[in-house]
Amino acid sequence: MPFSPFRLKNLSLKNRIVRSATYEKRADVDGFATDYLASLYKDLAKGGSGLIISGCALVHISGRILPQMICIHNDHYTDRLKKITEAVHRYPAKIFIQLVHGGRQCHPEMLGGEAPLAPSAVHDPSTGITPNEMTNEQIWEIIESFVYAARRAIEAGFDGIQLHGAHGYLISSFISPHTNRRDDYWGGDEVRRFHFLEEVYKSIRNEIGEEYPIAIKMNSSDFVNGGLEINESARIARQLQILGFDAIEVSGGMYEAGHKTSQTGISTPDQEAYFRQAAAEFKKELFIPVILAGGIRSFSVMQDIIKKGYSDLVSLSRPLIREPNLPNKMMEGKQKADCISCNGCMRFKKLDIVRCTQIEH
Ligand SMILES: Cc1cc2nc3c(=O)[nH]c(=O)nc-3n(C[C@H](O)[C@H](O)[C@H](O)COP(=O)(O)O)c2cc1C
Repeated sequence: MPFSPFRLKNLSLKNRIVRSATYEKRADVDGFATDYLASLYKDLAKGGSGLIISGCALVHISGRILPQMICIHNDHYTDRLKKITEAVHRYPAKIFIQLVHGGRQCHPEMLGGEAPLAPSAVHDPSTGITPNEMTNEQIWEIIESFVYAARRAIEAGFDGIQLHGAHGYLISSFISPHTNRRDDYWGGDEVRRFHFLEEVYKSIRNEIGEEYPIAIKMNSSDFVNGGLEINESARIARQLQILGFDAIEVSGGMYEAGHKTSQTGISTPDQEAYFRQAAAEFKKELFIPVILAGGIRSFSVMQDIIKKGYSDLVSLSRPLIREPNLPNKMMEGKQKADCISCNGCMRFKKLDIVRCTQIEH
């Protein structure tokens, strides 16, 4: 079943295994795609994933999260991004770009010393930073930057867009009652907290047309006091479907919550797929495809998730850092990923590139 084809809007995916968005630290210092980065995407496409979601790509310089992340915030980036899509399309794989603005979780170091932007000035104890509350003008400017980025992505040959609406970054922080304390069009209750995402979606759809899939990765729960919880996130998912989103990837957590997104010490099938119950709640509300991320390591778990209807597709990040050809290996009978979920690959500052620290390079 993980290897049965799947139709996502107008796209035929050769299987249901997705590479979940993964920052690679392989763009150049200015954020341009490199041959090195393209070769990683070639390996992923050749390795058997049906759909690849790019590492988060920056839509506006005020939202820079990490060094050497992929950038798409101006027209100069478009041509070089074609290296990635061309590498992928030499194989029967599809690729979405993940668009991000880092919002309150950007470090001033990444912003030339400026404080990050957020819906509200809510202190983040995990970074020690209090962001600036965005003005109405700043909000519209960022919405516009998502639209331009989406247009460039289509020009560069991506098959679709995924909005990064999870993990406490800007879109997620507008949705969350913990980080959005506004009382205007952009916040105050569940409906108004949804407006930022709604405006981003509508403006992108208007720009790129009906043909291209637009997906979103979103939190099932923020795992912080006063944050988004499953009952509300499942309701929001239904609103996203009504709006026109074509797929939802279920995740969770934010910096403040500790290691909830990429959990460590996954050694038994029960510990795998740690957002599976949340995905099941989403599935109850939705007919568009649900993608489940988080801790999926075994072929039997993938099968079980799809068979029991927790989600339609499964997505993996850390296992594909270690083994970009894991889907092909599983097709040949491999039962379990080699990834031990140690998060060595997340020591971004220490590593020259994102890589598995368990194997010699
Ligand atoms: C090195 C690394 C980089 C990541 N970068 C992103 C990213 O750019 N966008 C995103 O939505 N999630 C990102 N994630 C989270 C993963 O996509 C995924 O949701 C999480 O790691 C759980 O899946 P896994 O257990 O298969 O790793 C990253 C995770 C890792 C380990």
